[in-house]
Amino acid sequence: MNPCVATGWSTIGILVPLMGMVVAAKAGEPATGPAASAVPPASAFTLPALPYAQDALEPYISAKTMSFHYGKHHQAYVDALNKLVASTPMATQTLDKIIVDCTGKADKAAVFNNAAQDWNHTFFWKSMKPGGGGQPSGRMLDLIVKSFGSFDKFKETFAATALAQFGSGWVWLVQDGDSLNIIKTANADTPIARGQRPLLTCDVWEHAYYLDYQNRRKDFVQAFLDHLANWDFAASQLK
Ligand SMILES: [Fe+2]
Repeated sequence: MNPCVATGWSTIGILVPLMGMVVAAKAGEPATGPAASAVPPASAFTLPALPYAQDALEPYISAKTMSFHYGKHHQAYVDALNKLVASTPMATQTLDKIIVDCTGKADKAAVFNNAAQDWNHTFFWKSMKPGGGGQPSGRMLDLIVKSFGSFDKFKETFAATALAQFGSGWVWLVQDGDSLNIIKTANADTPIARGQRPLLTCDVWEHAYYLDYQNRRKDFVQAFLDHLANWDFAASQLK
């Protein structure tokens, strides 16, 4: 047997990690030893797991939409945030603290936008469930009736607020003491930046619905209210 053939795979197996060490050293990693240069630093933030399968919300949100929205858009916000906070004190802080600290600061707008979009999307995934939607019960229903007059009036106001958001943004049900309000936020803006308590949200960026509904945001929001809204989660957020 040719000795070169016999040892070929083991030679490659040795060379690959060595090549990784060389690349890390060129990228400016501290050369404190083979183990330190071969292992990249852990990212500060990771994409949270979806609370259901990517096809679980069909036919109201397709698996294709979820694969782009969760797997591409949400992942991109997490990746961008990790790059922005790398080697800064923010790398060890919570998303909530980063969002509050960066609110209104022009030089921290990129950090705010990516941190808030990470937070907002994580909250949005929890705001839906397979077989959701319809009317809540218990304290949540009592607060909705007290705040809006009826559940139908709540739905009407929520949908109208979603349609009134010009361009990209979010519509939220928030708690204000013993009453509830519906608000909209533009782009990455989020209620927690202003000390409000969100209970439920619907993403009205076009990337949330365009593959399934094209320009029909109204139909998407109606499907959210009738078939997806997770009232158990919303109730768990009540103070
Ligand atoms: Fe989104």
